[in-house]
Amino acid sequence: MIYLDNAATSFHKPAEVPQAMLRAMGRCANPGRGGYPAAMEAAETVFTCREMAGKFFHCSPEQVVFTSNCTHGLNMAIFTLVKPGGKVLISGFEHNAVTRPLHALNAQLLVAGRRLFDWEDTLTQFEEGLKKGAEVAVFTHVSNVFGYILPVEQMAALCRQYRVPFVVDAAQSAGTQDIDFAALGADFMAMPGHKGLLGPQGTGILLCGRMPKPLLYGGTGSQSMLQQMPDFLPDGGEAGTVNVPGIAGLWAGMRYVNRVGLPQIRQREQRQLSRCVVGLKKLGYRVFDGPHQAAVVSFVPSVDCQDLADRFSGQGIAVRAGLHCAPLAHESAGTLETGTVRVSFGHDCSDRQTAFFLQKAEVLR
Ligand code: ALA
Repeated sequence: MIYLDNAATSFHKPAEVPQAMLRAMGRCANPGRGGYPAAMEAAETVFTCREMAGKFFHCSPEQVVFTSNCTHGLNMAIFTLVKPGGKVLISGFEHNAVTRPLHALNAQLLVAGRRLFDWEDTLTQFEEGLKKGAEVAVFTHVSNVFGYILPVEQMAALCRQYRVPFVVDAAQSAGTQDIDFAALGADFMAMPGHKGLLGPQGTGILLCGRMPKPLLYGGTGSQSMLQQMPDFLPDGGEAGTVNVPGIAGLWAGMRYVNRVGLPQIRQREQRQLSRCVVGLKKLGYRVFDGPHQAAVVSFVPSVDCQDLADRFSGQGIAVRAGLHCAPLAHESAGTLETGTVRVSFGHDCSDRQTAFFLQKAEVLR
């Protein structure tokens, strides 16, 4: 299979990821719940990954809270910061993982920046939103539909200037873009473990610049006499047994990214993005591309998007069609009615795969 759906999850993982998971399943008991060797090995496995994530994103290991996915982390962050009915500033490219929790809180949304690949528009509108009295800002780093890389450093600086707490959704950027959590000064940043970080599904990280309100209450292996959740990190955000084999796999995935190098992975993906954009345009597809674009591209064919994706699948090519759980992003781009077909590249993409995809795109159009 030619796999071009890395924005959904990275696949295949480097071999060391399942190996680390298998090893953890054979050797690890419950972390923080015992002093015997198998419990200690579990604790060490979890801490090693926490430490690596801290180095990777420039924060302390304690600020790394393990979650079950990016949505879990976003919910923790949003339910910590947003009051019911509160005024929240978001970008025009948010995923349902942001908008649905905000809807559940009945938040008043200020949507800032609907123009793709246009930093000036994004920043001007964003500052307007802050001036209108936003109490919290939540914004994505990279659009999962269009690959638009938002100017998060500048947006973070504006939030700091207006003293508005903020959350960054790093679903598509963790493992592909440079991220410095300390420099951003974010209150929270949520990310999946299973996309750019190459870990397994069911893993995620919430970086915490402040204490989150727990979504889950329960045992932490610490302060067991108390009926309140511990008021320190990471325990306050991690009730119940964490996903030790998953975290072992995530550690192996991050170690792989470190070894190959983020710039090298990015360069490889960007090469395929350019080839794909040029090729699709030549074939007459309507392609959404621009500056500040990660290795994710959407296009609209003259036939139904889902039909085309199914036909690609029949030819051994995996792409995702439809609204990609991000109706707001499609509304911003004017593709809410049709949806798009999305191609997203990963760490192991190649010229040969892109050429094969373009060959089929010519036949199937
Ligand atoms: N949010 C993921 C995607 O964009 C699942 O496909």
